Amino acid sequence: MKKEDKLRVNIAGIKLRNPILMASGTYGYGTEYTRIEGVDLREIGGVILKGTFLKPRKGTAPPFRAVETPAGMLNAIGLESCGIDDLINEKIPRISRFTRVFANIADGSIDEYAEIAGILNKVSELSGVEVNISCPNVQKGGQAFGTDPKEAYRVIRAVVRNCDNHPVIAKLTPNVTDITSIALACVEAGANALSLINTVVGMAIDVSSKRPYLTNNYGGLSGPAIKPIGVARVCQVYQAFKKNGISSKIPLIGVGGISSGKDALEYILAGARAVQLGTINFRNPRAYREILDYISSYLISGGYRSISDRRLVGSVRLYK
Ligand SMILES: Cc1cc2nc3c(=O)[nH]c(=O)nc-3n(C[C@H](O)[C@H](O)[C@H](O)COP(=O)(O)O)c2cc1C
Repeated sequence: MKKEDKLRVNIAGIKLRNPILMASGTYGYGTEYTRIEGVDLREIGGVILKGTFLKPRKGTAPPFRAVETPAGMLNAIGLESCGIDDLINEKIPRISRFTRVFANIADGSIDEYAEIAGILNKVSELSGVEVNISCPNVQKGGQAFGTDPKEAYRVIRAVVRNCDNHPVIAKLTPNVTDITSIALACVEAGANALSLINTVVGMAIDVSSKRPYLTNNYGGLSGPAIKPIGVARVCQVYQAFKKNGISSKIPLIGVGGISSGKDALEYILAGARAVQLGTINFRNPRAYREILDYISSYLISGGYRSISDRRLVGSVRLYK
């Protein structure tokens, strides 16, 4: 098998050139990166667009929307969006010439999620729809949908009902006690794949002013600091799926702190079939190349048929 063929993956029926996707919110609407030397979007598996709302939104007021932390960053960009019309008429046609494109849905009520899903369902250039269930549920006092299995079920069910042309990927938050119950609820609701994890709630305080660094007080921690959390979450969900006999049917997409080929492979050994790169894109937008090269060499030296080899995905040898 050719080197590039070994990297091809199938996620919920969607064939990807390789297992590298760009994470929502860290890659804008994709085309910004076409102007960076050494970046070629045709070389990656796909891009997940910034979270989409029905109407344009500005997100959290500047200036204090992001701050660097040890081995990561905290952001409270808020869910900034160009709105669904601009997304469909301008953004998606531009980026889909280069690579596979996935939308990411975010909104404050189940009806709004469902409405957006129904609109995106008719967009043929899309390869799939990722549903960010870390958003606050306005009808339930602002508690995130993804922290309660019943609410996670309701929102994913509503999206799946309105979106039968595209695979639906539920994106889970790590900010829960038992992620496996949320994951199973999403599958029961009809999710075709899961992405995990979104950012981890964090805070940084300026000791001179005694003020939080972020105007929003709290933010989402991303970057290398969260990789062990992401790997653990993927492993926990993969093991729960194995117990329920669905580990080969519902692919997991690992995201959180990946900055090297070894990081990506950790996620794959924990149970992921594809991975997403987020914060690393700010520091090194060409990182995907090194990651792909590393994975290719690992496959060849280990004698693996492909990245989806059974001896690889979820093959971590856990202690009893
Ligand atoms: C600035 C920023 C904006 C983000 N916006 C979104 C978003 O709109 N929707 C979403 O599902 N996740 C969003 N995320 C979360 C990332 O997609 C990813 O899950 C998280 O950053 C962990 O990956 P990383 O450590 O590789 O960055 C955002 C992350 C960052 C840093």
